[in-house]
Amino acid sequence: MKRGAILVTGGAGYVGSHVVLSLQSRHPVVVLDNLSEGHRELVPEGVVFEAGDVLNRAALSSVFQRHVIAGVVHLAARAYVGESAREPARYFENNLVGTFQLLEAMRAHGVREFVFSSTCAVYGAPSRLPIGEDAALAPINAYGESKLAIERMLHWYGAAYGVRAVVLRYFNAAGADAAGRSGEWHEPEPHLIPQILAAAAGGEALTLHGDDYATPDGTGVRDFIHVSDLARAHAQALDYLAAGEASACLNLGTGRGLSVGELIAAAARITGQEVLVQRGPRRAGDPAALIADASRAERVLSWRPCESDANTLLATAWAWRQAPKPHSATPRAAASSL
Ligand SMILES: NC(=O)c1ccc[n+]([C@@H]2O[C@H](COP(=O)([O-])OP(=O)(O)OC[C@H]3O[C@@H](n4cnc5c(N)ncnc54)[C@H](O)[C@@H]3O)[C@@H](O)[C@H]2O)c1
Repeated sequence: MKRGAILVTGGAGYVGSHVVLSLQSRHPVVVLDNLSEGHRELVPEGVVFEAGDVLNRAALSSVFQRHVIAGVVHLAARAYVGESAREPARYFENNLVGTFQLLEAMRAHGVREFVFSSTCAVYGAPSRLPIGEDAALAPINAYGESKLAIERMLHWYGAAYGVRAVVLRYFNAAGADAAGRSGEWHEPEPHLIPQILAAAAGGEALTLHGDDYATPDGTGVRDFIHVSDLARAHAQALDYLAAGEASACLNLGTGRGLSVGELIAAAARITGQEVLVQRGPRRAGDPAALIADASRAERVLSWRPCESDANTLLATAWAWRQAPKPHSATPRAAASSL
């Protein structure tokens, strides 16, 4: 409170809105979002909202001039793997150039504490599980490549300009705020759990992208981390930086995998509905399993997931889907998952 506000870019988006919820009782928060994917309605009352783009240096300068900013949590990004294959320029511009502009605005205003949303996509398709932070960095799409380039840029901003950054490599974010204040709201919805729930609610059948992987039930396995567990890690990362600690790079996952088949079974149990499934081919570049070794985050931040079991993930996402929203649209199913 005494140190100034936390600027949360992308704070009107899915993960960002939960980060804001986890910060707002402890810090003044300023959200900057261009609403390309986010929703103004997800920003809680009492939080300053600035409509603006991280690519726009003048808009950034204005935000840093009008608010005393102590630290930045940077989530604003495009984050669709398939789109990044078709339109890599969009990813290098929005994610990499956007972060460069943000870091330059921070530099001009003497702000040096930075928490960055990175991704397990920086690892590509590793052969060894679980995946530790020291695994080879070998992205297989422009999305992951844009995030890795930002991580490298942060290293040099640290060495030359004293920026201290906590890089958080999320695995698969899922679930919704337990109090129903936010949840996943993308149109169309690209992520697996909302697609499963849409199918349970009588929407399109879920397309299973491969059921012949070398996994216990043949379906893909991912490490799903509850979005509120993720959000809490950002608050802890800011505390860590405020205590003067050095830059760090941390995986955020559970260390356990959940298969698509297990999630479908849990969804059927929780909703009481059948989840219609249609078999589809594997997607290029989809590894059989991705599971985090998140022990470094536990050591460094004393962070441990506590809401990331299948029941809580599905039950909170289902409650969010069923509740009246600050909007009339119903989340729609889309073609891809995981
Ligand atoms: N959801 C996941 O499973 C996951 C996994 C790994 C990493 N991440 C990372 O977490 C962050 C948030 O992801 P999300 O799932 O909440 O996505 P999201 O699309 O819901 O949120 C991103 C937000 O950033 C905003 N934004 C995008 N470009 C902007 C720009 N140029 N200027 C200002 N605002 C901009 C969007 O309007 C949106 O509100 C992203 O950086 C993403 O790469 C997400």
